[in-house]
Amino acid sequence: MNSGECCSGGGGSGGGVGAAERSRRGSPREDGFAPSALGTREHWDAVYERELQTFREYGDTGEIWFGEESMNRLIRWMQKRKIPLDASVLDIGTGNGVFLVELAKFGFSNITGIDYSPSAIQLSGSIIEKEGLSNIKLKVEDVLNLSTKLSGFHVCIDKGTFDAISLNPDNAIEKRKQYVKSLSGALNAKGFFLITSCNWTKEELLDEFSEGFELFEELPTPTFSFGGRSGNSVTALVFQKT
Ligand SMILES: C[S@@+](CC[C@H](N)C(=O)[O-])C[C@H]1O[C@@H](n2cnc3c(N)ncnc32)[C@H](O)[C@@H]1O
Repeated sequence: MNSGECCSGGGGSGGGVGAAERSRRGSPREDGFAPSALGTREHWDAVYERELQTFREYGDTGEIWFGEESMNRLIRWMQKRKIPLDASVLDIGTGNGVFLVELAKFGFSNITGIDYSPSAIQLSGSIIEKEGLSNIKLKVEDVLNLSTKLSGFHVCIDKGTFDAISLNPDNAIEKRKQYVKSLSGALNAKGFFLITSCNWTKEELLDEFSEGFELFEELPTPTFSFGGRSGNSVTALVFQKT
């Protein structure tokens, strides 16, 4: 992709949770997404089992979805908006947990990562341990069936997870609605939700999160131009719970 920042292959999974999936080919549903294995837990379990093995053998932490810049962009925003370092932060679908590591290194002290893949949580635990960080909470948890204990967060972060859920072959529309409900339950009043997506445009995300959330800020992402058209391959938005 021209921007140098895009959804990537997910540890050799052979395709991004990305624009490529938003295909008019195959049998797209009414939301325009072709259902994909990328929306299933089996897929992510296989990805992180493989990445866990690679980490054990070579110390390679694996894929950083949307690249380093996507993490810096979020941390810069938190810094600019003076989010206190002890604010509670939830990373939804943390994957290898590398973003949690970055947050902790920056000084955030109350951070939690969840993922429905036990291998992802095992991998992030191993990476966090290797980094010598001890105050990060990790939990195997399906965001669509979130424990009520996971509530009262000041900031929730999603980098590629809503994208993955949108590709679920089994009633993704309902799952997206459930995601918005779960998010609402996890955030405290006026809490912030930072989403990075390569499947959804700004306008579509505004629509998806119109109930209970309002746009606080759009974060700049690289633009590309091709054939006289220009656009962004990644959308990064900050919502605030109303
Ligand atoms: C595209 S990866 C992004 C990983 C990580 N956020 C990053 O930026 O590197 C999507 C992640 O969402 C997780 N995920 C997908 N659906 C989920 C769900 N319902 N509950 C919790 N985690 C989920 C997957 O296991 C995977 O780790």
